[in-house]
Amino acid sequence: MEAIASKNQGKFAQNIRNRELEICKICGEPTQYLVNIPLMNKQFLAHINCRCEREKLEIQRENELKQEKLSKIAELKNLSLISKRYENVSLENTQTGHNSSFDKAFERCKRYCENHQKVYENGNGIYLFGAKGSGKTHVTACIANELLKKCVPVLLTNLFEISKAVKSTFQNGFHESEQEFFERFEKVSFLIFDDLGVETFTKNDRDTWLQTLLFDLINRRYNAKKPTIFSSNYSLNELVNLRGISDRTVDRISEMTSGAVFKFDGESMRSKFKNII
Ligand SMILES: Nc1ncnc2c1ncn2[C@@H]1O[C@H](COP(=O)(O)OP(=O)(O)OP(=O)(O)O)[C@@H](O)[C@H]1O
Ligand SMILES: [Mg+2]
Ligand SMILES: [Zn+2]
Repeated sequence: MEAIASKNQGKFAQNIRNRELEICKICGEPTQYLVNIPLMNKQFLAHINCRCEREKLEIQRENELKQEKLSKIAELKNLSLISKRYENVSLENTQTGHNSSFDKAFERCKRYCENHQKVYENGNGIYLFGAKGSGKTHVTACIANELLKKCVPVLLTNLFEISKAVKSTFQNGFHESEQEFFERFEKVSFLIFDDLGVETFTKNDRDTWLQTLLFDLINRRYNAKKPTIFSSNYSLNELVNLRGISDRTVDRISEMTSGAVFKFDGESMRSKFKNII
């Protein structure tokens, strides 16, 4: 070891004497530079990265960043609550050209993803409604998966799942986690509220709890001006008139999604796209 060190020192000293700096054989740039310390009357050679080394480090850094991004996406995907059926649907593997109402909404949702930063700043939501099997959840899942690809936090869920989760926070006696749970829904960048109006709201006590829960969730998003995307079998009017959702809630949804309400019609895609994706 010492022999190597003294051999190197000897070589450095010789290099200094000869004013010769080591050159990379590949790119031709020096891998050493001369450091002068005039006060001590000293000189020594220090290492400097040549182009090849700089490029190698750059690639290494890029790979690290890519890896970080991939694990962030995986983590967000884990938290997103997207169900297995829709976890691989995407803007790319979705078929168009079968149904014009689907295509119109789909194109708009594509643009929504492209402009996600602006959409987020403005708090713009979308309301998709129409017949069962017409592709509404599919389109919202395409949005969710596209945003996740860009590392944007998304949750895709429905009132049934939310109420189940809230109830379980009561049962476990974790009062704190109920608060945390609500905050998660309030704060997530994009919330997708699937199947709105599946539950019928009437005036008995149990439904009042659900009615208040729904109002609270929507109102939090509304006040925070956070983008929320809805899918439903019912129009906004029908949510009030047929499903008994409070008009204060629906009024807010209407404002949150104004200018982006799309009706899906036509036959169910369930048999058409069976097992394609
Ligand atoms: N354009 C499409 N390309 C490929 N698969 C599609 C397309 N549209 C819908 N599908 C598939 O068809 C099935 C039904 O669509 P989806 O679940 O989105 O319907 P929906 O409108 O949400 O129905 P519901 O009102 O009953 O919830 C899903 O498996 C979905 O992935
Ligand atoms: Mg659906
Ligand atoms: Zn080099």
